[in-house]
Amino acid sequence: MSEQLPPTHECNPAKTPATADAMPRRSFHLAVIYICNAIMGLALAVPTILYLFVPPRMRKQSAFVDAGDVSQLPVGTPVEMSFQQSRVDGWRALTEKRTAWVVKTAENNVVAYGPQCTHLGCAYHWEEGTKQFVCPCHASYFSIQGAVLAGPAPRPLDRYVTKIQDNRLHIGPLKVSEEAKG
Ligand code: FES
Repeated sequence: MSEQLPPTHECNPAKTPATADAMPRRSFHLAVIYICNAIMGLALAVPTILYLFVPPRMRKQSAFVDAGDVSQLPVGTPVEMSFQQSRVDGWRALTEKRTAWVVKTAENNVVAYGPQCTHLGCAYHWEEGTKQFVCPCHASYFSIQGAVLAGPAPRPLDRYVTKIQDNRLHIGPLKVSEEAKG
């Protein structure tokens, strides 16, 4: 009894020349699909890795923010200006509304005070009648230069670092003022 052998490659009637041509084409299509998948994977992975592993503070962030046009501000009268400032809280980058009391002292020269009283941090305001900054919480008074005139405030008003470019006020970090001596 003779055992029937499977047909060899050479004599396989199913392997026509047309089928042989189809193999490289199928390989080519598979290669294209793999390359497309790899590109899509990279496109998704790169931003994800940046988000997860690069802390927000390492991403480029300007120290100054645009607080507005100062060309129309009256000289010698404080104006409260608001602006958006970004800060990092852990892994989150937050944008918050901030304010500054801005005094234009001359053309292209301004001073921007932090909005909180240097006693316990209440919001103060400008009183045009007396030409003083007044904190109503415990009655501290400040001059237009930010100096303490009366009350429990231990030091002058804090000032933002500022610069002016093309009539736009750019506000930087808040510098804590030094405690009044004596
Ligand atoms: S917080 Fe302003 S006087 Fe106390």
